[in-house]
Amino acid sequence: MLRYLTAGESHGPALTVVVDGLPAAVPVDLDAMAFDLKRRQGGYGRGGRMKIESDSVEVLSGVRHGRTLGSPVTLQIRNKDFENWRDVMSPAPQPPAATRRRALKHPRPGHADLAGAMKFLTDDLRNVLERASARETTARVAAGALAKAVLRASGAEVRSHVLRIGDAALGSEPVSWETLDDVESSSVRCVDGAVSGAMVAAIDQAKRHGDSLGGVFEVIARGLPPGLGSFSQWDRRLDGRIAQALMSIHAVKAVSLGAGFEAGATPGARFHDEILYDDSHGGLHRGSNRAGGLEGGVTNGEELRAQAVVKPIPTLLMGLRSIDMRTKEPRTASVERSDTCVVPAAGVVGEAMLSLVLADSLLEKFGGDSLDEYLDHLEATRTRTREFLARRPPAEE
Ligand SMILES: Cc1cc2nc3c(=O)[nH]c(=O)nc-3n(C[C@H](O)[C@H](O)[C@H](O)COP(=O)(O)O)c2cc1C
Repeated sequence: MLRYLTAGESHGPALTVVVDGLPAAVPVDLDAMAFDLKRRQGGYGRGGRMKIESDSVEVLSGVRHGRTLGSPVTLQIRNKDFENWRDVMSPAPQPPAATRRRALKHPRPGHADLAGAMKFLTDDLRNVLERASARETTARVAAGALAKAVLRASGAEVRSHVLRIGDAALGSEPVSWETLDDVESSSVRCVDGAVSGAMVAAIDQAKRHGDSLGGVFEVIARGLPPGLGSFSQWDRRLDGRIAQALMSIHAVKAVSLGAGFEAGATPGARFHDEILYDDSHGGLHRGSNRAGGLEGGVTNGEELRAQAVVKPIPTLLMGLRSIDMRTKEPRTASVERSDTCVVPAAGVVGEAMLSLVLADSLLEKFGGDSLDEYLDHLEATRTRTREFLARRPPAEE
């Protein structure tokens, strides 16, 4: 079982993640990890904080000479901005001036500020927002890079791209895997040049008005063996596990799989992916993939596709109505340094979350203490599946 726990505050010394359950000898590519962290910080529409932080990872345990040891892997990303927050974030008791500095008193609608204040009975909203902040996703992306290494060794890969920002959106035709080769050349991580331009213009306009924009990203996994997940218990269904992982990303408000929301409006005859068999087409294949690679909570060998809706981020320079937590007087919501749009970055976090779920289910099905042992199990099952699908009853006498 692949498990991970993150720790750390947005303006504390560091974000940390401990990843447990990786087999030994998984190659750890720190450059690939750095590339993902950079993509999480980027995307058109990010604000000032991302210009201060340029994230890099220190490996504190579980890796030796570029490969995992089979022991827990600890990754740490230092917050470079911490130097400016030493007294505000100090674990030691501080004089009242340090508590007042950077105090947030007016909860921001759409953030955890008010819900967290009522949960912990604190009117010092910094006690809430420091951990509720999406800065935490840095640790998830670092952990996700380890999961991606398991996928890569297994012949699988995860990619993401942006489908919509505000009103600017791609059409409903599925984007092909190959088109995604160039997605990083778009500042909004969208495969269509004209739509990218419209997305950038929409973000500029929102920014001019002190507003923010949300959108939709898609994550796609290719090369997965059929049979991951299970329909035998609700909590082992892979569709449910993927939905939870994506929904847990800050600001994600809806998740769909395959043709998702279209399913409610399309008759069955036009919705389901017919099953075809043709020796000259490599045997078993499907006419379409509206199921998004999952049937009955189990991978069916097609590309796995999931989409997530990201709400417009809640810190607005224009200021929404709120109250002062102490006096209860009406006030404009507090503003922390903020982004205008995070959909491109959220897609990168989505890649990490999907990779972590998929690596977990691969390790669950194929197991093994070392990468080689795991790959032996995977290859043996792939061979068996191929043989099973090619099998035909002997011709009748
Ligand atoms: C990568 C990423 C960066 C984010 N950056 C900001 C930000 O700069 N300002 C902001 O108000 N919200 C930002 N958010 C969204 C908030 O973290 C999120 O809306 C908030 O924690 C409340 O959680 P909820 O929207 O899931 O209810 C970001 C989200 C992600 C995924």
